[in-house]
Amino acid sequence: MTAELLRVRDLAVSFATEGGTAKVLDRVNLTIGRGQIVGLVGESGCGKTTLARSILGVLPRNSAQIGSGSIVFDDADLLKVDPATLERTVRGRQISFIPQDPYGSFNPVFTIGSQIMELMKWKSPELNDRQAARSGWLPRFHGRQRYRADRQRVLEMLAAVQLPNPDAILAKYPHEVSGGQRQRLMIAMALLTEPKLIIADEPTTALDVTIQAQILKLLRQLATGRGVAVLFTTHDLGTAYEICDRITVMYAGQEMEEAPSEGFFNRPSHPYTSRLLRSLPSNDGGLVGIPGEIPSLVNPPIGCRFHPRCEYATEICCSQRPEPHDVGVDHVVRCYHPVTEKPKQAVQ
Ligand SMILES: Nc1ncnc2c1ncn2[C@@H]1O[C@H](COP(=O)(O)OP(=O)(O)O)[C@@H](O)[C@H]1O
Ligand code: SF4
Ligand SMILES: [Mg+2]
Repeated sequence: MTAELLRVRDLAVSFATEGGTAKVLDRVNLTIGRGQIVGLVGESGCGKTTLARSILGVLPRNSAQIGSGSIVFDDADLLKVDPATLERTVRGRQISFIPQDPYGSFNPVFTIGSQIMELMKWKSPELNDRQAARSGWLPRFHGRQRYRADRQRVLEMLAAVQLPNPDAILAKYPHEVSGGQRQRLMIAMALLTEPKLIIADEPTTALDVTIQAQILKLLRQLATGRGVAVLFTTHDLGTAYEICDRITVMYAGQEMEEAPSEGFFNRPSHPYTSRLLRSLPSNDGGLVGIPGEIPSLVNPPIGCRFHPRCEYATEICCSQRPEPHDVGVDHVVRCYHPVTEKPKQAVQ
C-alpha cells in the first residue's frame, strides 16, 4: 500500500460548447496522500468542479470529453475501471461527496431518515465490496438485521456531527432543518460509508460565516480522527489555510503550485499564487486585485495560461507551456520564473 491515495496525472478534459471546444482541464496534476486534507484552490471557473467530477466519474456524458491522463485511486486507474464496478464499489463508498448546495441533494418529499437509510441500503459498509459489486437482488434487499445495524450507525454518526436529538432529525423533512444542519447531515452521509476520500466541493459557500467556520472545523476533526482524506475545493485561500495540510492552486485549468500548507504559505513560488495571497483582504479592509481577466478556455493563451496577466512573463512564457518542477521538498511549481521572496502580505 503506497502513501499516496490519489494521483491525477496529465488529465485533459474538454467541453463541447456553442462557442467551440472549451479546454477546461489542460493536463492537470493532483496528488492526495492517505488521510491528508488537500485544498484545491482557484478562482471561479478555473476547473475545480470539473476536476472533482472527473474523479467521481460524473462528468456530463453529452458534452464532456476526457482527452488524456490517468486518475489512480488506491492503485487502480479509475478511467479504466468499468462503470458498473465504479458505481457499486467506488463512488459513494470509497469516495464520497459533499456538495455545495446541501438542499439540492435531498428530495423534498421524503424524510431525512428515509433518504439516509436508502443510501445505507446501497452503500453501507455492512456490505463488503464483493456483495456490493454483485448485481441483482442482494444490495437492494435491506434485511432486518442489516437495517438495524445501519440505523444504529446512522444515529451514532448524527451524534458525531453534533446534531441534537438524532431520532427527531431523521423524522423531519429537509425543509424543516437549517442550512447548517443540512450540511452537518451531508458530512454525516459522506462519512457513513467509511470512505477513503471525501470530495467536498465548496461545502460551506452557501452558509453564513460563523456557521462556515464551525462546519469546516467539524469536517477536519472528523476526517482526521478517522484517517479519511479530503479534497476540499474553495476559491478562498484563507479558508484553505484554516483546514488544509496541502494546497494545490489552479488557474485556467492547470495546477500552478502544489505544496504542503506551511511551505506554500511561507514561500509561495508561482507569480499567480503570490498575487493571490496579496489579494486577500488587508488589515485595513482593502483588497489588492490581480489586473487582467481570466482567459477564455475556448482560445486559451499559448504557453503559460497566466502570461497575459503576469508581471514576470518573458518570451518563452508566451510560446511554451511550462511543466511542473520542484522548487523545494514536495513543493512543485509550473513556472519558468518562480518568485523567491516572501509575499508582503501573507496570510496571518
Ligand atoms: N457541462 C459543461 N458544459 C460546458 N462548459 C462547462 C460545463 N461545466 C463546466 N464548464 C466550464 O468549465 C469551466 C470550469 O468550470 P468549473 O469546473 O465549474 O469551475 P470552478 O468549479 O472552478 O468554478 C468554466 O468555464 C465552465 O463554464
Ligand atoms: S511561466 Fe512565465 S508567465 Fe507563467 S507564471 Fe511563470 S513567469 Fe509568469
Ligand atoms: Mg465549482
